[in-house]
Amino acid sequence: ADDGYRLWLKYDLIKDAGKREAYARSAQFIAVSGNSPVLKAASDELKNGLQGLLGKSVPVLANAGNRTGGIILAVTNTGLPTLNAEGYQIKSQSNNIVISGKTESAVLYGAFALLRQLQTLQPMANLALTSSPKVRYRMLNHWDNPNATIERGYAGESLWKWYELPERLDPRYRDYARANASLGINATVVNNVNASSRFLTTEYLHKVAALAGVFRQYGIRVYLSIYFPAPKTIGGLKTADPLDPEVRKWWADKTKEIYSLIPDFGGFLVKANSEGEPGPQDYGRNHADGANMLAEALKPYDGIVLWRAFVYKADPKADRFKAALEEFGDLDGKFDKKVIVQVKNGPIDFQPREPFSPLFGKMPKTPLAVEFQITQEYLGFATHMVYEAPLFKECLESDTYAKGKGTTVAKVVDGSAFGYELTAMAGVANTGSDRNWTGHPMAQANWYAFGRLAWDHTLSSEAIANEWVTMTLTTEPKAVKPITDMMLKSRDIYVNYNTPMGLSRPWTGVHFAPEPWQNRSPRPDWTAVYYHRADSVGIGFDRTAKGSDALSQYAPAVQQQWNNPETCPLPYLLWFHHVAWTKKLSTGRSLWDELCTHFYTGADSVIWMQKQWNQVKNEIDPETYTNVAARLQTQHKEAIWWRDAWVLYLQEYARQPIPASYKKPDRT
Ligand code: GCU
Repeated sequence: ADDGYRLWLKYDLIKDAGKREAYARSAQFIAVSGNSPVLKAASDELKNGLQGLLGKSVPVLANAGNRTGGIILAVTNTGLPTLNAEGYQIKSQSNNIVISGKTESAVLYGAFALLRQLQTLQPMANLALTSSPKVRYRMLNHWDNPNATIERGYAGESLWKWYELPERLDPRYRDYARANASLGINATVVNNVNASSRFLTTEYLHKVAALAGVFRQYGIRVYLSIYFPAPKTIGGLKTADPLDPEVRKWWADKTKEIYSLIPDFGGFLVKANSEGEPGPQDYGRNHADGANMLAEALKPYDGIVLWRAFVYKADPKADRFKAALEEFGDLDGKFDKKVIVQVKNGPIDFQPREPFSPLFGKMPKTPLAVEFQITQEYLGFATHMVYEAPLFKECLESDTYAKGKGTTVAKVVDGSAFGYELTAMAGVANTGSDRNWTGHPMAQANWYAFGRLAWDHTLSSEAIANEWVTMTLTTEPKAVKPITDMMLKSRDIYVNYNTPMGLSRPWTGVHFAPEPWQNRSPRPDWTAVYYHRADSVGIGFDRTAKGSDALSQYAPAVQQQWNNPETCPLPYLLWFHHVAWTKKLSTGRSLWDELCTHFYTGADSVIWMQKQWNQVKNEIDPETYTNVAARLQTQHKEAIWWRDAWVLYLQEYARQPIPASYKKPDRT
């Protein structure tokens, strides 16, 4: 059985013979001139895909000559004025389908797009599709360690077999690259942001170069996370001070070595002075000093620095929400042209629901990338089905009002708001060595959704879910609908039983169990009292001017939306306000009753998800069906666990009864 290995690139025979024949008439050959590796990848994919979908071997020709009724791949600059370097056009032209673009990668993306048309049973006649990516660097960040563990990974071990590299190239590396290229992902950071300096040793650079050799054919460039004190740990220097000439020389030499092995190396990702990782502040320097030193080392090459803004201090009196802007705001305009500052979607840390990070809109002179977390660190690992496109979209569509109404986070990130020259979107990968790549079969949709949105953030969550289900699970419309419905609601369902209404909580250790009471922690700011601030009066973190005043970091129009507890939307309420248990909300319920409603309906909704899934039993491959059904059972059990943990704990403060309507036995 396939067990999900083929992801959304399944290419199973199209059931409708009429449709198959119609497609086959337009796909009698594939013509591609030259035999560059990237174009070969494109024609191989088409040949392989058409063989599966149409049940027919389609010849690959060097030249279409006078033939018609085929697919022609063409790298060209003519007739494509609106496309950027990676954009493609698919056009029906004199009885052929011409896939064109200005670069080989563009044509590769076009080939995958044409296959997607077939996989989703779209017409193949009179095609006129054009699409250009909206951001330039569409990246996965792997939090993979040299010993094959993955930080916050829930799908097995690392895909990279360091001990076999560089000699043996696992065939899976190519399938990984195919999957990414099918979405337009063109960058991969192969190691953890909590980086080992080992990756910069010559021994490991050879291994990384071997991976880069596989990925190159699919238009993907390799990047490395670096350990800031590497000049000390592997370079033998006494310091890693970014202003020290010897340190600068060490980085310049190291970078030169990297490019001698990997000529298209992408650059460095850096976590510094964050959660105990060393950085320039250890030497009295700032983030810009550190980033600019690396930019200087990269100057002779086409590489960039991604410097992360995920910083906060272990200070129980401070508000972690404000930390990034406090450290980075003054540095706007101080970064080298090769630097992108990479900002998590929210101000805290990939929580199930957060408002957008206040950095977006506040750094007009510094290209900002948004970093999403695809791996479900705070979203139930691999036993909870949470389709993340709505979470990504909620952030991307948030209005920063930085240049008036409509300055969404997406427009900041894609460069249209401030004219950033570099644009990037990063996703912390959810892949691992599990045969199905992502542990939960439905989590494949999150990798897919991230990639599609990194290419085009205007796509809707629903359209992406539809595509993914149709390509991956079933083409049967009566099954596609209930599955996409379930996916689209899944994030709100999770939030309801996990952290509704803007609640947040400490997450200890592995970040899985409900421990809203947890006050024992190595850091004073990683505690219950710090996060949700429950007391006998109410609950929530007051971030208005009366409290931490974090709200003042947003544009006035945003403050206006959120700074009044009467009008602040309920999903964000407790992020910004300490609200009395008895306070009557817009729903007519008291805060306590409203919280209970969320916890109980959230847990109950998992039963609804199970029913949705039951409905499609006959349309789904039995192995996947059973796998997901079992995980939904676990999810229901865990949702009840979450609900009860919160409700019983909060009851100690609220001293209110659980509304009678909820005191029924669980319907399992
Ligand atoms: C979270 C996560 C860490 C990770 C960190 C980061 O805090 O739990 O494992 O290192 O984010 O993004 O750097």
